[in-house]
Amino acid sequence: MIERTLVLIKPDGVQRGLVGEITQRFEKVGLKIIGMRMVWVDKEFSKEHYKAHVEKEFYPGLEAMITEGPVVALAVEGIHAVTQVRKMVGDTEPKIAQPGTIRGDYTHHSYESTSGAGKAIRNVVHASGNNKEAEAEIELWFKKEELHSYKTAQEVHTF
Ligand code: PPS
Repeated sequence: MIERTLVLIKPDGVQRGLVGEITQRFEKVGLKIIGMRMVWVDKEFSKEHYKAHVEKEFYPGLEAMITEGPVVALAVEGIHAVTQVRKMVGDTEPKIAQPGTIRGDYTHHSYESTSGAGKAIRNVVHASGNNKEAEAEIELWFKKEELHSYKTAQEVHTF
């Protein structure tokens, strides 16, 4: 039940000063931040992270967007963390993402608004899609020694 997942606050989220607000949302529901790094991704690393999408039409725009500035990578742990985080992040397309979700509250782009323009949709965050992806992505973004095991206040005072 205790799962780990990867969240990226993408360059648009960092540039807009949303690192604190986004991180706080995960902390407020009781998820545990077990790793945190600021990284300026290069093209090679982008191709590794987005390997499922490299052949897709939108990939050049996606690569340009993810390499345009630093991202903040979070390793997040908690009960059903993969599903829980995806729920909080909301739909990939901001136009569809529900209010109350991160993408729904902070973004408004649509696929239509970027198609043909060679641009990626700006949806502020990435979150692993399933457990297998989460495991691979955490391994890609974090060294073992950068992931920390500790008790939160809830764990110390409740159990
Ligand atoms: S998801 O969130 O991974 O389930 O979404 P998926 O559709 O599988 O992944 C697509 C990733 O590419 C980003 N992206 C786009 N997708 C489709 N069309 C356009 N124009 C586009 N531009 C960027 C999309 O945001 C997903 O990346 P992440 O980082 O997961 O958001």
